[in-house]
Parts: sequence; structure tokens; C-alpha cells
Amino acid sequence: YKLPEIKNEPVLSYAPGSIERETLKKTLSELNKGGLDIPMIIDGKEIRTNNTKEIRPPHNHQNLLGYYHQGDKSHVQMAIDAALKAKPSWEAMNWESRAAIFLKAADLIAGPYRSQFNAVTMIGQSKNAYQSEIDAVCELIDFYRYNVKNMHEIYNMQPNSSPGIWNRMVWRPLEGFIFALTPFNFTSIAGNLGAAPALMGNTVVWKPSKTAVYSAHLIMKVLKEAGLPDGVINLIYVGGKEATDVIFDHREFAGLHFTGSTEVFNSMWKSIASNITKYKSYPRIVGETGGKDYIFAEKTANAKQVATAITRGAFEYQGQKCSAASRAYIPINLWDDVKKFVADDLSKIKTGVVEDFSNFVNAVIDEESFDKLAKVIEDAKSSPDTEIVCGGNYDKSTGYFIYPTVIQAKRPDYITMKEELFGPIITVYVYDPEEIDAVLDLLDKSTDYALTGAIFSSDRAQIEKLTAKLTHTAGNFYINDKPTGAVVDQQPFGGSRGSGTNDKAGSVLNLLRWVSPQCIKETF
Ligand code: ALA
Repeated sequence: YKLPEIKNEPVLSYAPGSIERETLKKTLSELNKGGLDIPMIIDGKEIRTNNTKEIRPPHNHQNLLGYYHQGDKSHVQMAIDAALKAKPSWEAMNWESRAAIFLKAADLIAGPYRSQFNAVTMIGQSKNAYQSEIDAVCELIDFYRYNVKNMHEIYNMQPNSSPGIWNRMVWRPLEGFIFALTPFNFTSIAGNLGAAPALMGNTVVWKPSKTAVYSAHLIMKVLKEAGLPDGVINLIYVGGKEATDVIFDHREFAGLHFTGSTEVFNSMWKSIASNITKYKSYPRIVGETGGKDYIFAEKTANAKQVATAITRGAFEYQGQKCSAASRAYIPINLWDDVKKFVADDLSKIKTGVVEDFSNFVNAVIDEESFDKLAKVIEDAKSSPDTEIVCGGNYDKSTGYFIYPTVIQAKRPDYITMKEELFGPIITVYVYDPEEIDAVLDLLDKSTDYALTGAIFSSDRAQIEKLTAKLTHTAGNFYINDKPTGAVVDQQPFGGSRGSGTNDKAGSVLNLLRWVSPQCIKETF
């Protein structure tokens, strides 16, 4: 078959006075009225417990939006049972039907549910309208649509035959169930980690972040409306240990699809390893983990371009993108200009609630994150090794606001040059261009991560040199652009080293992890 045409979903602008902005404003105010009562969804049924947890917007924590229902180990077991029960008919369903369900879900998000996807992500995860549109709408739609295109390509990957012999490849799903453990920072990633294995014929137990249940619930609603059969994806809200105690002890555990911290991924990998003889097959372990993403400017770089990359790369979505720039290496000849341009940018951007569309920065995800980031700022204020160049303010009286902050580190090994922060803070080390090789070495060796990185230069020979030298420091490497904003099918996303298994979300590489092909040779 020829598939329907697949293209990246266009990003709407939400310009003042536009219909989409007016619709979104209405949806936001309806959702802000609250009254949420969000159940788990197991085998297509809404499951409520006596253990409810509050949902509050990070930028307005006085507003109690409602509750979600938290489960326990028994719900994890129920979800596994439902996934295993749904598996035979789901994997037997022809691929066109599975594809059609996800294509229809993409159309529902693009059309009637667009403003709801934006509104739940804006309110629930404190993302502004533009950031939400490129994530919860466009990237999620792109994942659903390009997964279908990639599945079709995989199914067409067939071996050669010879006279009297017909060889063929059956792209079977894995045997058992998949565990999807998803983050708060991208609704699209959360939506894709269950959907990608499901499209290939697997069934899934999905545990989202406790700070993104509002959007997870909406994803399930749309998938159901698009025709996803009960039990194919089962959504549970349980503690991490409760989930993994049951899941990693199960003989039918077939794979983990994860985005989150390196520490959590490592500990899960160890639990899986310690149970390895229990499983029917070797589980697939796919994870995108932490990062200490960088901007490296070379002496011929354009200072304005570097400054824009800092402002956008470090502060969009409060620096909570896994790809966000959080350290920068700037040559001394450019530093005064870069500093001035960043300060100019920051004097124009505003921090505040998502309902005011002019705010560029919103709140960080929760109090724990806020307290950690506020301490980083205080430590930098009192350290002899640093200077706060811009920002340095924070306030949690009404929402968890950390104002965009640039720290200049006098030592390249200052803690915030090495450790992931996940907040709107970037640390800059200003270097002498004569010492570029030593600085590149430092950049390479000062963290175990390798997710994203950006270099800036106008000298082709230097671009070549930097690209070669930094090849293992980033799974997504940018030349003269910020290190964020990868688009499905254009910049396949994922990191190596301590940043993950680099299976490139939204690509054929990722989908191949969710199949266990059988090669059949038939002789006539
Ligand atoms: N697509 C996201 C980014 O690159 C992950 O920022």
C-alpha cells in the first residue's frame, strides 16, 4: 500500500487576535476551573482508589485543580494482566488497522483536541503556548505519523530470494509486555514511549511522571476515541519502586522504554540484570537519560548568534528540556558582546504564569526542583569561583519561579559546569582562544553525558576540527544553532554515553527495538 502523505505538522503561531489564541484562552479558563478526578486506566476501565493526590499548576500552586488516583502493586499486576490479555488479538490485527488508529489519533490532536492538548500541558507542566504547541501538538503528532511511515519501511525490509526458495522476514512484536516510564518535560515523549512499541504490535504498561498526569489522561482519551482496543496501553499512577518490584520480577517482561534521569535508568538496568534468568527473552532496554548540554563558541563565532542560542537554548521551557544548554564555553574576545546581548534579551523577556501569553519563562515543575535550583543560585552567589552575570532571583510565593540566570565560573570544573540542573540556569566559562585544545578536552571529559551540543564558528576549518574532536560528546550536534528543538524526521533525537542508548526517537532505529524478527526460508 501507499501510505497517506506524511509531513511535519505545521506550528500555529497563537498570534494576538488569532482564532487559535482565542480558542486556547477559552480552553485554559475552562480547565482552570478544576474539578479534576483522574483515574488510572487499566484494560480500558477507569480505576479509582482511596488514595488521591492533588494536582496544582506549578505556576499557581494555590489553585487546586483536583486529584488523581494513586494505585499500588495490585494495580501494577492488573495492568500487566490486561496487557498480556490484549496481546494476542492486538498483534494479530493487520498492521494497517494499527497504523490507522495512530493516524486517526494524530488527526484528532491536530483538529478537535489541539487546544486541549496545549491547555493541559500549559497548565499541568507550566509550558507557554508556543513551547506547548511544538511539543504536545506538533511533536506528538509527528511521532504518531512518522512511526507509521517507519513501520511501513521496516515491514518492507525483506531479504533476497533465489529460484525455488522464498526468504521472508516476519517483523514480530516482542513476546510479553513493555514497560513505558515517561517524563514530565515533553507530552510528546510521554505519549510516544508507549505508542511506538504498541504500533509494532506490543502491549504496554505505562507509568507517567506524577507531575504530568493531566496530559497522560488526555492522551489515553484520544487513543481510545481513535479506536485503540482496551488493554493495549494501560496507564497506572504508582510509586516507582512499587512498579519496578512487580514488573522486573515478571517472566513476561519484554522491554523498557524510558526517558528520565541517568540514576533511575542505571538502577533499573541493575534490577533487570539481577532478574535476567527469570525472563522468557532478553528484555530490550531503551532509554534517553540525563545531559549536560553545551554551547561552544570559537573565536570567529557571531556573538549575537551565540547570545540567541544561550537565551533560547538555556531558558525556553525553563531549561527543563533534556536538550537545554546548561554550560557554555565562550572565547574572551566575544564575551563582552555575548554578555551584553544576553542581558538585552533577558531585559525583554518576562517570567510568569502561562495564561499571560507574553511570558517567555514559566515555573519549574515542582517545589523540590525549585528548592534545588534556588540553592544552586545561593551557592553561586557565595562562591569565590563564580559571579552571577544575569538573573539570580527566585520566588515561590505563588508559583515555582526561577528567573533566568547566567553564572560565570572562573574555574571550568565548578560544579554547575559538570552536573545536570534541569532549570533556567546556564554556567559560562570564558576561555583564552590560545588554549582552545585544552578547553575542548575539558568539555569532553568533565561530564559522563553526551546528549546535545552546539558549536559556533564562521571558520570552516575550525568547524571541521570541532566536529571531529567533539564527535562523541553529543548524539545531537548543532553547528551555528541552539542545541534544542529537534524535529521528528529532521533531527532524529537521542544521546550516547550516560545520556542513553541513542535509539533515536521517532526513527526506524527506535521501532526496530520493539520487534523480534523471524526469518522464514521456504523451499518449493
Ligand atoms: N525535541 C526536543 C528537543 O530537541 C527533545 O529539544
